Amino acid sequence: MKISGRVEGVEYAIRDIVESARQVKARGVRMHYLNIGDPCQFGFQPPPNVLRAFADAVQGGRNQYADSEGLPELREAIAAREAAKGMDVTGDGVLVTNGVSEGLDMVVSSIVDPGDEVLLPGPYYPPYASYVRLRGGVPVEFAADAGDGAPDPAEIRSLITPRTVAICLINPNNPTGTVIGGRRLRQILDVAGEHGLYVICDEIYDRITYGGPFEGAGSVARDLPVILLNGFSKVHMMTGWRLGYIAFNGSPGLGRIREHLPKLARVRICGSTPAQHAALESLRGPQDHITSMVSELQKRRDLAVRLLSEIPGITCRAPAGAFYAFPRIDPSLGTDKEFVSGLLEETGVLAVHGSGFGERHGSGHFRIVFLPPEEYLEEALGLVARYVNRSTR
Ligand SMILES: Cc1ncc(COP(=O)(O)O)c(C=O)c1O
Repeated sequence: MKISGRVEGVEYAIRDIVESARQVKARGVRMHYLNIGDPCQFGFQPPPNVLRAFADAVQGGRNQYADSEGLPELREAIAAREAAKGMDVTGDGVLVTNGVSEGLDMVVSSIVDPGDEVLLPGPYYPPYASYVRLRGGVPVEFAADAGDGAPDPAEIRSLITPRTVAICLINPNNPTGTVIGGRRLRQILDVAGEHGLYVICDEIYDRITYGGPFEGAGSVARDLPVILLNGFSKVHMMTGWRLGYIAFNGSPGLGRIREHLPKLARVRICGSTPAQHAALESLRGPQDHITSMVSELQKRRDLAVRLLSEIPGITCRAPAGAFYAFPRIDPSLGTDKEFVSGLLEETGVLAVHGSGFGERHGSGHFRIVFLPPEEYLEEALGLVARYVNRSTR
């Protein structure tokens, strides 16, 4: 039976490799999973007040559909959170989605026609390219880190054509952990402004940074159009509850998308109602579990980067945000796909090949998460070191 050519081409490296891992596990190999960015898989969980809010919603009969745009009080609380980061946004500029993933799908579906080009930071979180391709668009990569820890506005400008519709920024970036500072963000937004392009900014890791304070795109936007994607999976440790949002700033350029995108929100009915009650509690309640998670992650980052850097043939920079390391592999160790599949077969350590995050900038790298506890990281990265030493002998 027929399937569409577009769906045939969809790939999601982070989960696609799980099938090979299943086969290795079935052989009785002890596995070390370093592939999925899910804090809840490694012991980080929402605090008791948030768990209670979810359970109370379920047990208290709040199991019905919510408004398509989201619970009004949650939209207000989200707007207040983003306004505190400097964005010009009010509750009516917020749409609650089933994860950032759904928000991304809705935004791309609203602006991309076949042949349209979308600029993506390479290496990028894979669904960005998948959703653009599904709508018949063309992903075009600029370097997420042009060598000085941020994208180069001049490179972005040089890639703009009459078919370009948007510039995407993932800040902090997955997989590189690059954090773009306010001055550079402003320059990139100015390029978008010169060409009448949307800026889609994914700030799902905004509170998971290891340097100075985070500056959001909304805080430097003035009247330039920013579509912010954010959610509760990472910072609020609610991956499985599937909750995110789209926030539009007050730019006059966003008038038409603000009018039309909510139709897509109505078509898919609404975000999970109990999860919305829990998200509201997570925004209103104490925030210290987030601070503790970030300081714990900083220790794990330092350990992972040190252990990886000690391995001959592997170079690893310390990421400024998120919870991924993206080391470079010396070509003598094979291609990134060969390296990752050899590592899996021989040691049971599951990493993701860098080219899964875009061939142009991701090849020759692999991604690991440094979410697991230190002993787990020591064991897994010890296996990586042994694997490399064996391959280079
Ligand atoms: C940059 C980025 N955006 C979005 C997502 C998915 O978010 P959600 O769980 O809210 O769909 C991820 C998950 O890894 C991510 O890294």
